[in-house]
Amino acid sequence: MNDDNLTQKKLIKKIIDDASGAVAIRLCAIGVDLGIFENLAHNGPATSDELSSRMELNERYIREWALGLFSSGYLHFDKKDRKISLNPEYIPVLVEEGGKFSQKGIIQLLNSTLLPYHDLLDAFKNGGGINYDKIDQGFWDGIDQTGCTRYRHFLVKDWIDEMPELKSRLEQGSVTFADFGCGSGRSTIELAKKFPNSQFFGFDLFEPNIVKSQRNAEEAGVSENLKFIQWDVSNKLKEKFDFVACFDLVHDMIDPLEGMKTIRSAVKDDGIFVLMDIKCEDDPADNKGPMVPFLYAMSLHFCMTTSLANNGAGLGTVGLPEGKVKEYCKEVGFKTVKRIEIDHPLNAVYEIRPN
Ligand SMILES: C[S@@+](CC[C@H](N)C(=O)[O-])C[C@H]1O[C@@H](n2cnc3c(N)ncnc32)[C@H](O)[C@@H]1O
Repeated sequence: MNDDNLTQKKLIKKIIDDASGAVAIRLCAIGVDLGIFENLAHNGPATSDELSSRMELNERYIREWALGLFSSGYLHFDKKDRKISLNPEYIPVLVEEGGKFSQKGIIQLLNSTLLPYHDLLDAFKNGGGINYDKIDQGFWDGIDQTGCTRYRHFLVKDWIDEMPELKSRLEQGSVTFADFGCGSGRSTIELAKKFPNSQFFGFDLFEPNIVKSQRNAEEAGVSENLKFIQWDVSNKLKEKFDFVACFDLVHDMIDPLEGMKTIRSAVKDDGIFVLMDIKCEDDPADNKGPMVPFLYAMSLHFCMTTSLANNGAGLGTVGLPEGKVKEYCKEVGFKTVKRIEIDHPLNAVYEIRPN
């Protein structure tokens, strides 16, 4: 066998592994969206017949799905009694809502962002992009799930301790905190719960996200000290806040520099701007690690593409490295940029001040 053959064989193996991995995530999305994993977790092992009557789903589909996920290692299938089961250790990852180890969001994100495929091919040929009206609800469900985990288990537990002035002023109370691009409000809600004496405002341009934020807040039993408002960061605000935060917003914006100008004008002079964005390198060729292909795929299907759909900057998912953060901050008049120490595979957090 010559070297070329070896190289080709390696590539073919990689393609088969990647193809099987990709479709396993599709099968996982079915398990998440239809609640089949949840049913197995709560009601225990079942044959495909039993699961079908338990869930009022078609038996033949369940059987095919379960055998597919058995072959890829997500489910167990007992050869003797033909029962399908979920390893209890997988429950925090595949079933738990907003748990620290939950990966439901990443499954939903991958499955749903890949959908407007022909619009994407069209954008490659003719420019432009894909607007929010073509983005599947599953994408927003995925954002909701990932946000739930990240803000509940990391933001208000670990990250906030790295910003002692912010934490103590929020604890003392009577300060205002604006969360720009709040999505389904998970960050705003977790902060409002943790700091009941301060006032929180979640802003997002996409109306369904405001509706979802309000529903999430009701379910979380937080209503006294938070409010959600539909608003586009490109428009200037009259109010000023003690603190402003953007969690995964700036790289998505149509005009990030204009957005940063609005943010600067919305932060009081003794205030703090908390910026959380994707952890990435100044030279994109230096982005390494298991998450990177996923991030570029998200960029092509959502972050870069929804911005380009509106003649925007199209920074992309990994388009706001530390160098760019500092460049924008200088341009809009923020004087201090401090990257805080966090240990997270996906995000970087900066504490930014006007002075
Ligand atoms: C990637 S999502 C992040 C949502 C949320 N912060 C989170 O981390 O879960 C970006 C959010 O910013 C919102 N957004 C994008 N551009 C905006 C703008 N110009 N003004 C206000 N919201 C915006 C989108 O609707 C979306 O909800």
